[in-house]
Amino acid sequence: MSYKDLHEEPFDDSTIAKLEIFEDYAQAWLPTFIMQGVPKICIFDFFAGTGYDKIGIAGSPIRILEQIKVQLGHVFQKKTKIEVYLNEFEPNKKKQNKFELLKRSCSNYLNENKDVERAIEIHYLNHDFEEIFPLLLSKIRDFPSLVYLDQNGIKFLSDKYFLELEKTRQTDFLYFVSASYFWRFGENLEFKMHLDIDMTEAKKHPYKFIHRSIIEQLRKKLPTGTKLKLYPFSLKKGANIYGIIFGASHPFAVDKFLTIAWRRNETNGQANFDIDEDAQKEQVDMFFEKKLTKVEDFKQNVRRKVLNREIINNFQLYDFALEEGHIGTHAAECLKHMKKNNEITYDGISPLVTYDNVYNQKRQLEYKRP
Ligand SMILES: C[S@@+](CC[C@H](N)C(=O)[O-])C[C@H]1O[C@@H](n2cnc3c(N)ncnc32)[C@H](O)[C@@H]1O
Repeated sequence: MSYKDLHEEPFDDSTIAKLEIFEDYAQAWLPTFIMQGVPKICIFDFFAGTGYDKIGIAGSPIRILEQIKVQLGHVFQKKTKIEVYLNEFEPNKKKQNKFELLKRSCSNYLNENKDVERAIEIHYLNHDFEEIFPLLLSKIRDFPSLVYLDQNGIKFLSDKYFLELEKTRQTDFLYFVSASYFWRFGENLEFKMHLDIDMTEAKKHPYKFIHRSIIEQLRKKLPTGTKLKLYPFSLKKGANIYGIIFGASHPFAVDKFLTIAWRRNETNGQANFDIDEDAQKEQVDMFFEKKLTKVEDFKQNVRRKVLNREIINNFQLYDFALEEGHIGTHAAECLKHMKKNNEITYDGISPLVTYDNVYNQKRQLEYKRP
């Protein structure tokens, strides 16, 4: 399978959207550990590219360095050691030009930002992912790690890497996958060697949902009792669908990713386009019942579960929201509405559906029928 080289042209809008999501996540991830005074954290960019595109737009490695720069005050104060691993490899090429460019871009950046250079330990690596991933796995396992897998295509989503990441306990990862490849080649034997996805199942849904189908099938591969949660963010580029698969075990990480995703798209929190055609659902048709938008549908579920006592407190409600790919705010809006309508009561003004209330302060709040 041949791939278009991302670095031959300026990054397009969907590539920039992907990089912004990567960067937003680094921005949210770094302070979580630095503020706790964790002694060492690691960032791995296994498919790092060249540092910048043809017209100087920053790629993932420079964005990582930029976000470390934002945190420098805290990094020095808390004495957190940050190790950054940047890998770039062009298969079948003797001269590794992209790798050379990567080193140059980052060295120049660090020369101009000496304080960032002092704050980090940077490793430039020029290996095939297949070889370098097993060698770095113990590092990923031993320290809180942020892992970017911005591959071409889908190959490295295969079980031997994906399930290894599942076993790590403090890793958040962002995979990039070309969902279109599944659609076109998913049934090929060569493809199935890398990743066995049931295409008959996936093709029961329209093409635009391919990314969702992949995630559903990946979830089925996870061992029972796994804490790993997976969430998609689909990116449309012309007729093709690409997307991010975010994975993390900790609810705080999930909360942060979902906050970023819903900030990017307040309608569905899951794509850079109107994947569920919610805009149409906003319009009330005189003759048909109004269809519920994604957020309305979620709120209706919440209301039903609270009324039938399946959900009786904020701990359950918060976990339910994350499980459904929603942010606490959506659940809280529903509860406030129910309280206003005298359907439930709870002490205080807020239904306390936030990570801080549930997991940090452990403030449990009961929702009661009046
Ligand atoms: C989608 S691009 C990554 C773009 C990068 N994140 C950026 O912001 O510029 C994928 C990169 O992975 C490199 N690559 C391809 N096959 C690889 C392999 N087997 N191991 C490591 N890197 C590989 C490609 O040369 C390409 O630069």
